[in-house]
Amino acid sequence: MRLYIISGVTGMTGNELARKLVASGEKVIGFDNFFASSIKTVEDIITNVNFIFHEYDLNNRGQMEKLKEEVVALKDTCEKLVYINCAAIVHTEHFYYVNRTFETNVIGMKAFLDQAVEVGADVYINCSTSEVYSMNSWSSSGVSESDYITMANAEHSQRTSYATGKLLTEFFMKDAVLLHQIKGCSIRFANVYSKNELYPKHIIPHIIHELKEKGNVELLENSKKNRRTFLHNEDSCAAVIALAETDSALDGSVYNVATDEEISIIDLVKLCAKKLGIDDPQITFKGYRESDPERRILSTEKIRTRTEWTPKITLSEGIEMCVKELDY
Ligand SMILES: NC(=O)c1ccc[n+]([C@@H]2O[C@H](COP(=O)([O-])OP(=O)(O)OC[C@H]3O[C@@H](n4cnc5c(N)ncnc54)[C@H](O)[C@@H]3O)[C@@H](O)[C@H]2O)c1
Repeated sequence: MRLYIISGVTGMTGNELARKLVASGEKVIGFDNFFASSIKTVEDIITNVNFIFHEYDLNNRGQMEKLKEEVVALKDTCEKLVYINCAAIVHTEHFYYVNRTFETNVIGMKAFLDQAVEVGADVYINCSTSEVYSMNSWSSSGVSESDYITMANAEHSQRTSYATGKLLTEFFMKDAVLLHQIKGCSIRFANVYSKNELYPKHIIPHIIHELKEKGNVELLENSKKNRRTFLHNEDSCAAVIALAETDSALDGSVYNVATDEEISIIDLVKLCAKKLGIDDPQITFKGYRESDPERRILSTEKIRTRTEWTPKITLSEGIEMCVKELDY
C-alpha cells in the first residue's frame, strides 16, 4: 500500500484524487481549510479506513507539525510516500491581489515541499498553472512547456502576481530534484472544472447558476472575444496519478495538462443552455479584466509522450454532469 498526503483535498482535483486512490487500495491523509470547498466533496469516502481527513491550514505551523508526526508514524508501513500539493488560492478574482495568493501558493508550497523532503517522501507533485503563459497563452500548435514566456507585469496589471508565484514554485520543485532530495514535477493545468465545484464565480457554475435563476447570463466584456479549453477534474486527477506513477517523468520538469477542445465563452453559455433545455439564452456584458489572455491553448504532447494520460471527458459530457449536479 502507498501513502499519499494531499493538501487542498476537498478541492476539485484533490477530492477526485482521494476517491480514486482510496478505491485502488491506497492510503490517503488529506487536509483542507475549506477556503474554497467543503467536506461534502469527500463525504462518500469519509468513513473509509484508508482515508484520513483533517481540517488543517497549510499555513498553520502547529497543524503541519502534527501532520508530519502522523506521516512519520505511518511511513514505514507503506511501500511509497507521495506528497501532492493541491492547496492554493485559485480563483481569478484573487489573482489581482498579490497578498491574497503569496502566502499559501508560494510559502505554503515551499514549506510542504520541505516537509516532504524532511520525512523522506519519494515523490512531490506541484500543481502550478497555465496562467504562467500570461499574454502568450496560445500558438497554432499550442504553447509548450519549453516556450519562452511573455508575461504581463506590474506596468500592466497585478494579475500576473498569481502566475509569478506559481512560476517560482516550479523552480523550487526543480531545485529539490536537482539536489536529489526527492522526485517530482510541476503541472500547468488549464481551467479545471467539476460537478461539485463550490465557487459560484467560476465560469461554468456561474453560467449554470445564472441560467437556472434568471435565464440571463452576465459576462465580462472580455467574454466577447475570449475562448478557453476546460479540463474536467476526473482528467486533472488522472494526470496527477499518471505522472506520480511514472518515475521517468519525475525529473523536476513541467507538464501542461489541458484539453484541445477550445470553445468561446459565448458558445459555452449556449452549450450550458442547451443542456438545461433553454433555447435562446440572454447574455449581458459588464466589467473588464486587465491582462486576460484571449485564448489559452496548451500543447500536451509532453505528458502524452511520457505517460499514458489523455483526457477522457468531453466538454459536452462534463457540462451534462455539472447541470445535473451543481446546486447552490
Ligand atoms: N482550477 C483551475 O482552473 C486550476 C488551473 C490551473 C492550476 N490549478 C492548480 O491546481 C491545484 C488544485 O486546484 P483545484 O482546481 O483543485 O482548485 P480548488 O480551489 O478546487 O482547490 C484548492 C483547495 O485548496 C484549499 N486551500 C486553499 N488554501 C488552503 C490552505 N491555506 N490550507 C489548506 N487548504 C487550502 C481550498 O479550500 C480548496 O479546497 C491548485 O494548486 C491550483 O492552483 C487549478
